[in-house]
Amino acid sequence: MSIIDLRADADAPLASAPGSLQLRSLTKAYGTAVAVDNVSLTVQAGEFLSLLGPSGCGKTTTLRLIGGFEFPDDGSIQISGRNVENLPPHKRPVNTVFQAYALFPHMKVADNVAYGLRLSGVPKAEIADRVSLALDMVRMTAFAARKPAQLSGGQQQRIALARALVNRPAVLLLDEPMSALDRKLREEMQVELKLLQRELGTTFIFVTHDQEEALSMSDRVAVMKDGRIEQIGTASTVYDSPESAFVAGFIGRQNSFPGTISSFDSAGVSVRTAGLSLHSSRPTKGSVPASGGAEVTAAIRPESVTVTAAALPGATAPVPDAPVNAVTGTLLGVSELGHSLQLVIHTPNDDQILARLPRAANPPTELGSTVTCSWSADAVRIFTS
Ligand SMILES: Nc1ncnc2c1ncn2[C@@H]1O[C@H](COP(=O)(O)OP(=O)(O)OP(=O)(O)O)[C@@H](O)[C@H]1O
Ligand SMILES: [Mg+2]
Repeated sequence: MSIIDLRADADAPLASAPGSLQLRSLTKAYGTAVAVDNVSLTVQAGEFLSLLGPSGCGKTTTLRLIGGFEFPDDGSIQISGRNVENLPPHKRPVNTVFQAYALFPHMKVADNVAYGLRLSGVPKAEIADRVSLALDMVRMTAFAARKPAQLSGGQQQRIALARALVNRPAVLLLDEPMSALDRKLREEMQVELKLLQRELGTTFIFVTHDQEEALSMSDRVAVMKDGRIEQIGTASTVYDSPESAFVAGFIGRQNSFPGTISSFDSAGVSVRTAGLSLHSSRPTKGSVPASGGAEVTAAIRPESVTVTAAALPGATAPVPDAPVNAVTGTLLGVSELGHSLQLVIHTPNDDQILARLPRAANPPTELGSTVTCSWSADAVRIFTS
């Protein structure tokens, strides 16, 4: 039976109505360390939102606050318009799937899934129906009588998911649920989980520090740093229009060059770094100062760098008047990435430039050869340092 058939069963709906979520100025400190710092966020009912950020940025703490396992120092949490920040976890219409699946080892799969329903006094017959629906949903019906130790990591993960979904949460919280799985299984589960979310319509808040996972699964991604949301948007918005050097560097690779503004006019911004002269024709974000001498970071994506064999081989001395948006250097490394090649170029001023080109572009690949890197003015982003 497919998930859609199950949904059509009006007597046993799989999910309650999806919930919206609103965080307002949410703050939580442990001693003097602020784990979640004034976070405000609105998630639509039925949305798949990822919290993405490096280790320690406050993702789990945010999820624990929503789930009720921690209480905020300040701020509010609304689910479907109702304030829940003072309710205990079991009174909130949310369930959490943790990183460590936290299955009871001595209980059979079916009893693990039934546990929460038994605890809240749901009638026996209804429990049996709901457990069997939840196991069907994650394609684990055949494993109902096994113990967790007799399952693979991916199967345990599915049971953890069934155990959360059996409660029909309005919002499902998932804290790095796939981090224990190997890459291939993880990619398969990503597709399955996304499909399941679409078909159930449940609101998902998904925590990960894996940018590819976040970008491929989510309707929107909230990029976190030091307890704050740096930027929130669709995958293409955070990738194509990062608003800070941090987001640009965290989502995808980036060549970053600290420097100072040398000129600023309607045609764009020119930046001088130790070894490069860069010009950007992109509109800058409001926080970049429009003044000569201001310290900024210029950033270029590896896929925006063109690499050609240098016309004049052997240019290893620093170039006093560097050409704009181009630099000559030595090809230090070449690695294959499926259909593209990744090149590392070392410049006379000790800058390392990463370039990613389609194999079909036929870039120079002889290590030690002298090459020229160049890029267009609209590939250069300027951020405040
Ligand atoms: N119970 C606690 N007591 C003290 N400090 C804590 C506690 N829980 C979290 N922290 C601190 O709060 C900050 C945020 O932690 P959190 O677990 O939310 O990060 P995270 O983004 O989930 O990181 P990871 O990707 O490593 O799981 C960290 O600096 C962490 O050390
Ligand atoms: Mg965490």
